[in-house]
Amino acid sequence: MKALITAGGHGTRLRPITYTQNKHLIPIANKLMLAYALEYASDAGINEAGVIINKGDKSIADAFGDGDSFGLKIEYIEQLEPLGLAHVVKIAEPFIGSDSFIFYLGDNILVGGIQKFIDDFTTNKSNCHLVLSKVPDPNRFGVADVQDGKIIGIEEKPDNPKSELAVTGIYVYDNHIFEAVNNIKPSARGELEISDAHQYLLNKGYSVTYSEITGWWKDTGKPSDLLEANRLVLDNIKDERKGEIDAHSTISGRVVIGKGSQVMNSNIRGPVIIGENVTIDGAYVGPYTAIGDGCTIISSEIEYSILMNDCSINNISRRIEASLLGSDVELLRSKSKPFTHRFIIGDQSRIEID
Ligand code: DAU
Repeated sequence: MKALITAGGHGTRLRPITYTQNKHLIPIANKLMLAYALEYASDAGINEAGVIINKGDKSIADAFGDGDSFGLKIEYIEQLEPLGLAHVVKIAEPFIGSDSFIFYLGDNILVGGIQKFIDDFTTNKSNCHLVLSKVPDPNRFGVADVQDGKIIGIEEKPDNPKSELAVTGIYVYDNHIFEAVNNIKPSARGELEISDAHQYLLNKGYSVTYSEITGWWKDTGKPSDLLEANRLVLDNIKDERKGEIDAHSTISGRVVIGKGSQVMNSNIRGPVIIGENVTIDGAYVGPYTAIGDGCTIISSEIEYSILMNDCSINNISRRIEASLLGSDVELLRSKSKPFTHRFIIGDQSRIEID
């Protein structure tokens, strides 16, 4: 069994963050998004992973190298243009060869790993095993029509979904998937759709089985999804305090504080993760916040947010909530009159103020 993991695509819904970095390198609970997929593959006993990257993108290989630290041998596969998920499978055929494989969309985060799905694929002797999850907004996903415990149809982002069962970004295949991706045509939006490949397998009478995720799973397409994924991962962290906490600070709940970090005169209410060399002084850090390395939070309050590395928040009067800050962002109170709002903001940023 091999793994094929995506780290390409446009990431348009996560702009402006994705103007400067690949979306799969956004941290969720201070761990790079793609690291979750690589760990799950390794935990499932897989030792070879193909990672799909955009043409010329070196950032993923810079972050994960040859995969040694995950116990994996990673081969990077360039996709010249994001022409769809079935196109991804198509170009991976030389890497996969005659093996079965798990196809894992690198922007999906779930709890509990992927071993169960591989076991279900093997036990059912499936040609294609899909992982489904009930969602409130199925029209954002591939949707399975399931009757009497069998999948009878799959539609990509339908206007009138036949069920609330989304097809998640976790698929296990044998070699017949290559027949499918080589026989379908691009959709109206010009992509080779993975849902069309699944429908092809159904039409040809191949065995398409499924498992349903009962725990949680998240496709991190939008900023609010990232915050939710961050919340869900933080819900499972264990307390670990390596930094210094002074006597005037209160820490409650599960909190990770990295090496070289200092918490002074502050109130931290977990679950919270604080990276290395962070300074927190006179601040409140509330539940479901992830603070990257080298950040500074002074005389401010923050909750349910993600701060990437080297951000600085200083003397902000309102509590900051449900926010996503890219690397090296500064939020500070003006020191001199006129006390106006002053912004230096990149394209497609979003600011809410009262
Ligand atoms: O997350 C589950 C959903 O993923 C499924 O329900 C849909 O059936 C499936 O089509 C897919 O829909 P999305 O709209 O979420 O796919 P997205 O374009 O966001 O791409 C998913 C991942 O694949 C992401 O890691 C980017 C990468 N990608 C995408 C395309 C289209 C590539 O590497 N190359 C591509 O050509």
